[in-house]
Amino acid sequence: MKVSVKVPATSANLGPGFDSIGLALPIYNTITIEETVLPGTGIEINLMSEDDALDEISFENIPRDENNIVYKAVEMLYNSIGQEPSELKINIQSQIPITRGLGSSAAVIVGGLIAANKLLGSPADETALLSIATEVEGHPDNVAPAILGGFVMASQEDDGSIVYRKLNWPDEWDITVCIPDFELSTSIARSVLPAQVPMADAIFNAKHMAMLIHAIDTKDEKLMRVALQDKLHQPYREKLIPGMREIMEAFKHEDGVLGCVLSGAGPAMLVISHKYDIDKIKSTVKNIWEGQSIKAEIKTFKIEENGAEIIEG
Ligand code: HSE
Repeated sequence: MKVSVKVPATSANLGPGFDSIGLALPIYNTITIEETVLPGTGIEINLMSEDDALDEISFENIPRDENNIVYKAVEMLYNSIGQEPSELKINIQSQIPITRGLGSSAAVIVGGLIAANKLLGSPADETALLSIATEVEGHPDNVAPAILGGFVMASQEDDGSIVYRKLNWPDEWDITVCIPDFELSTSIARSVLPAQVPMADAIFNAKHMAMLIHAIDTKDEKLMRVALQDKLHQPYREKLIPGMREIMEAFKHEDGVLGCVLSGAGPAMLVISHKYDIDKIKSTVKNIWEGQSIKAEIKTFKIEENGAEIIEG
């Protein structure tokens, strides 16, 4: 039996919501898992990228054995019902650029789990899958919207349980994703964050997160422009992303641009706008990055309201 799952890209944090919120975007990975019939064949992991040569080096570095994150997630699911995975063929068809802050690892983890769950006769419910995905990924803010689609808040509580809700997102808001041609691993982007932050910065983010949720819920664009600010992760990551501060500054006083934030751990950036000239966004970002000898792929999307979906099997 063979199961294929299509999973959307995701962008976490949205400024003040560090490790807490994320949204799905219409770029997809497809993960196919097949139980092979030949005993003793072990696992086989194949990766195919629809992107250009940009990802070749990162692709080479992805483990094709038991250390692969998809396999690890699948193994945890099997173990949770007292089984061991044996002969599995895992194919990953990737459209989501890797190590750019667009949830490529969350997508493959979620896709692998949903496919394996179907192969096993669906023993795990959504919450159980989300819990395993969070354990493998380390935080729930990408895996939750990858499963559910749309705009999602998610928290791993102290007892390990995951609390999550899908919230409204104004469909009329455009999301422009600016993807530079350099990679930044999440582990490096997390390594520059301090273990402790000033109380004033924590309060700043709590206030802006409250504003953000209300602004999104009520489509309050004026409030959104204030809300999309952060003091917990972006200021520390700035040094890893040339041009980041300049790009954010460039959109600060543009009517119609609601904000500009780092996508997840970066280096991709998001510009959220409404009735604003998208070409102007593209040329502003391109010009700033070109000044730093950085090429960029820039695309404008609406949010993807659908989450992971079984497309075969
Ligand atoms: N919330 C995470 C971070 C997302 O910013 O490190 C990484 O994918």
